[in-house]
Amino acid sequence: MKIVTVENYEEMSALAAKIIGQSVQSNPTATLGLATGSTVLGTYANLRQAYASGQLSFKDIRTINLDEYVGLGCDHEHSYAYYMLSNLFDHIDIDRANTFIPRGDATDLEAECQRYGDLLAKLPRDIQLLGIGSDGHIAFNEPGSPFDSRTRVVQLATSTIKDNSRLFSRIEDVPTRAITVGIADIMCAKKLLLLASGLNKAKAVKAMLQGAVDTCCPASILQTHTDVTVILDKQAASLL
Ligand code: GLP
Repeated sequence: MKIVTVENYEEMSALAAKIIGQSVQSNPTATLGLATGSTVLGTYANLRQAYASGQLSFKDIRTINLDEYVGLGCDHEHSYAYYMLSNLFDHIDIDRANTFIPRGDATDLEAECQRYGDLLAKLPRDIQLLGIGSDGHIAFNEPGSPFDSRTRVVQLATSTIKDNSRLFSRIEDVPTRAITVGIADIMCAKKLLLLASGLNKAKAVKAMLQGAVDTCCPASILQTHTDVTVILDKQAASLL
């Protein structure tokens, strides 16, 4: 595992975008596993910039996202589908038909999980971008999620609902369930790139890197992957 500690959020984002950019340049038909959340916003800003300045093209790139809130359609401002459009896809030359994200508004959620799981199997990811929750979750695999879990509907932990409520006007508006890819799905990617920034991630980062490989910290499974890069800012690395 390669652990890189940088000064701040800006350096973390620039380095993450550089690594993803290298994947795109070395394989213009690569499949990127993408994440949402505040941590990766700076990475997407750098990728938009790299496209705008002509350094990168996403014309033949495919992307597949980690998760989506149950009940939110792609036109809902808090859906992850909307996040991906407004923070990345609307600003680059990617073919929308090559971007995939679970349908949180599907009427048959079980069928949607099945469809998405089949899609993941058909689209091996060259690189998977990840954030980490303050409770150690990856995607929406909360503590206790089995390491062999696959795409499914999950109940969000109270701490996650609280963390994510900063983006909603009221905590009651935060969906309590999500469709998430499983931990086994994440581990199938060829390369993993996990980012963490800020003091509120320090405890989870320590458990991920220096704790036991245990489902009480889902991200600890990364210790067993053969190609992982973790980029931390100083605050996120402060307990190591
Ligand atoms: C969210 C997402 C994760 C994300 C994590 C951290 O709930 N489902 O994919 O990595 O929690 O989010 P943030 O980057 O906003 O701290």
